Amino acid sequence: MDELADAYAYPADRDVWLRANMVSTLDGAAQHDGRSQPISSAADMRVFGTLRGLADVVVVGAETVRQEGYRPARAREAFAARRAADGQAPAPAVAVVSAGLDLDFSSPLFTEPSVPTLLVTGAGAPADRVAAARAAGAEIVIAGDGAAVDPARAVRALAERGLRRLLTEGGPRLLGQFVAARVLDELCLTVSPMLTAGDAQRIAGGPALTVPERFALRSLLEEDGFLFARYHQGRHSAE
Ligand SMILES: NC(=O)c1ccc[n+]([C@@H]2O[C@H](COP(=O)([O-])OP(=O)(O)OC[C@H]3O[C@@H](n4cnc5c(N)ncnc54)[C@H](OP(=O)(O)O)[C@@H]3O)[C@@H](O)[C@H]2O)c1
Repeated sequence: MDELADAYAYPADRDVWLRANMVSTLDGAAQHDGRSQPISSAADMRVFGTLRGLADVVVVGAETVRQEGYRPARAREAFAARRAADGQAPAPAVAVVSAGLDLDFSSPLFTEPSVPTLLVTGAGAPADRVAAARAAGAEIVIAGDGAAVDPARAVRALAERGLRRLLTEGGPRLLGQFVAARVLDELCLTVSPMLTAGDAQRIAGGPALTVPERFALRSLLEEDGFLFARYHQGRHSAE
């Protein structure tokens, strides 16, 4: 686990770093039957756990929270010493991005976290839902003037709270906005050796970029036919 954690360590010379971790089939599906578990593997879950173990905060779209039944991130013994040395809480906070706040505030994600779950929303979010979230123990982070969140502002708002090693686990609609706002620094992509056909979402959705954004391959691991690629945004590759 230490070796994997070293391989995926956040760059030491960056104040703020937004990394995404996504899994895709060979034909580009980011889900099967509404979940990513059927296209994942044990090795993928090890990388997933390692990336969580290194992060200050896991940023996730509300639909993924609803469909995947998100729970708080666990404090894991394997990362305890490393996190303490890096001045991190024992587990990363989960930050849910939502406009409507139609979330189950009685779920463990809100009632049982070791660090309070954050709700990233806009100033125009429904006041009654904001109050319900606060009553459940969530911390509200405002990152938009209307109901919607401005993705770049969300990154800044989390960084201002000291959450500078960011990990987004999607979903595709949220990731597409980070891409469009050009604030994504790194993509950790698991290529799953499966074909699913159908009309599943790709790893990033929403409006297309005018010009495709170039990333540079930093590392590539393989286990059991699954590929684990790590790409940095092109602007980092010349540095
Ligand atoms: N393959 C993978 O690695 C992977 C990773 C994650 C998820 N998935 C799959 O992807 C699917 C869900 O992803 P998705 O793309 O449909 O949804 P998503 O990105 O997880 O969540 C979309 C929701 O996030 C909130 N949101 C997004 N952008 C916002 C903004 N700018 N301002 C305010 N709120 C915003 C909204 O929540 P409200 O509706 O609450 O306002 C929106 O409905 C699931 O099937 C999941 O299994 C796959």
